[in-house]
Amino acid sequence: MSIRWMVRASRIWLALAFGAAASPAFAAAEAARADAALPPVLVHKSSTCGCCGLWVEHMRRAGFRVEVRDDEDLYAIKQRLGVPYGKGSCHTAEVGGYFVEGHVPADDVRRLLREKPEAKGLVLPGMPAGSPGMEMPDGRVQPYVVEQVARDGSTTAFARHERAAGDRAAGD
Ligand code: CU
Ligand code: CU
Repeated sequence: MSIRWMVRASRIWLALAFGAAASPAFAAAEAARADAALPPVLVHKSSTCGCCGLWVEHMRRAGFRVEVRDDEDLYAIKQRLGVPYGKGSCHTAEVGGYFVEGHVPADDVRRLLREKPEAKGLVLPGMPAGSPGMEMPDGRVQPYVVEQVARDGSTTAFARHERAAGDRAAGD
C-alpha cells in the first residue's frame, strides 16, 4: 500500500466525515490526480464567493494544483497584477507568471502555459452564464470571449466560447 494511496484515502475519508463528498463535483475533484507538469495556481477570492469555489473545482478536475487565498481587498490585487480597469471579475488567479481573471476555462489556461505569449495574462470580464463555475441549470451559455492582456494593458481575443466547456480528465 503506497503512501500516496493512503494520503488519498485519508482525504476521501475526511471528505466523507465532513459530508463534502455528498457533492459529486467535490468527489471528482478529489479523485482527479494533479498534473505535476502544470505550475501551481494561486487563487485570490473573497471568502463568501460561491462561484469562485466552483471555478477552483473546475481547475482541480482539469489537473491543476490550486491554492486558495481568501482576501477582501481583491481590487488591490488586481491593480498590483495589472488587470485592466473594466475587465475584472469575481476572482483573480496567478499561474506561471501570468494572471487569470475570472471564469476562464482550464483549457485556455493550459494553452496559455503551452504557448507562453508575451502577455500579462488572460481576462474573462464579468461572469458570463455557462462559463466554468457559472453553469446554468438549463445549460444555457452566453457566448463569451477570453481576452489576452498585452504588457501595455491592451487586450485582444484569445478564445471564443459558445458552448459549455466540458471538464476533462487530468492528462488530456
Ligand atoms: Cu464568479
Ligand atoms: Cu470567482
